[in-house]
Amino acid sequence: MGKVVIVGSINVDMVFTSKVRPKAGETVLGEEFSIIPGGKGANQAVAASKLGAESYMIGCVGNDSNGEFSINNLTNMNVSTDCIDSTNEATTGVANIVVAENDNSIIVIAGSNYKITKNTIDKYKDVILSADIVLLQLEIPIDIVEYTAEICKKNNVDVLLNPAPAIELKKSLIENVTYITPNEHELKIILGKHDNIDEIIRKYPNKLIVTMGAKGVKYFDGIDMKLIPSYNVEVVDTTGAGDTFCGGLAAALVRGDNIEDAIKFANKAAALSITKLGAQSGMPTLEQLL
Ligand code: RIB
Repeated sequence: MGKVVIVGSINVDMVFTSKVRPKAGETVLGEEFSIIPGGKGANQAVAASKLGAESYMIGCVGNDSNGEFSINNLTNMNVSTDCIDSTNEATTGVANIVVAENDNSIIVIAGSNYKITKNTIDKYKDVILSADIVLLQLEIPIDIVEYTAEICKKNNVDVLLNPAPAIELKKSLIENVTYITPNEHELKIILGKHDNIDEIIRKYPNKLIVTMGAKGVKYFDGIDMKLIPSYNVEVVDTTGAGDTFCGGLAAALVRGDNIEDAIKFANKAAALSITKLGAQSGMPTLEQLL
C-alpha cells in the first residue's frame, strides 16, 4: 500500500438542494438540507483511503462540534488524523453548497484552515517526507502550499497540486510540483493567460492533467495528446468529483500504475462519485472499481 499525505482543508458542507438557483435578491423554496463532511483536502484524503492508499491528513479544525464531526468522519474513513491540529482562534471551515439545475455553487468560509502555518508544516515534516505522494489544494494559505511544495521538491517527494479554488500560480510553485490537475476554467486562471488549451497542455508533458467534465481528461505524454473519455452516468451531484479524481489518481500512482492507467482509474472513480449527493458519500471503494 502506498502512502498519500494530504496537506489541506477540512470543512463541513451545508448542502441545499433546489430545483432552481436563486438569483441575487431572490428567495426560493428548496427541497432538502444535509450536513456532510467536506473540504477539498479531507475529500481527497477520504478518496485516497477508499481507493486503497494509506492516507494521512495534515490540517487544522476549530475546537467545536464541526471539528469533532470532521475528525470522527476521517477516522471512520481510515484516514490518519494524528497530524490534525485544533485551534480556539477560528471555527472549523464550512461550505455553503447549493445543488440546483444540474450543477453546484459553493461559498467556503476557510476558518481554521487558515490557521495552518509554516510551523505546522515543520512540525509534521517527517510525515510529509515519508509520503509516496503529497496532495495539495488551494483552500489553505498559498504561502503554506508553496512552502510545502518547496520542501517536497528539495527532498524528491512527488506532489500532486489540485489548484482549486483557482488563483494565478507562481512559476516556482508550478516547477516544484509533479502533477497539476485543474479543470478547464481553473487552467486559464492558474497560468494567467488564455491560450489554446492544447498548446498549454503541450508545454507540461505528463504534468498538466486537465479535467473537462463530460469531455474527458486531457494530458500530453511527450509524444501524443491523450484524451481519456468520460463515462455516461446519471448525474446527481458533481460536488467532490474533482476531489475523487485527485484522491484516486494519487492512490493509483502510489500503487505503481503508469500515468495513463492512473488517470483512467481516477476518471472512473470520479464518474461514480457524481451519482450520489455529497462530496464524500458517493466516492466508490477500490472493490467497486475493480
Ligand atoms: O470540492 C468540493 C469541496 O469544496 C466541498 O466539500 C466544499 O467543502 C469545498 O471545499
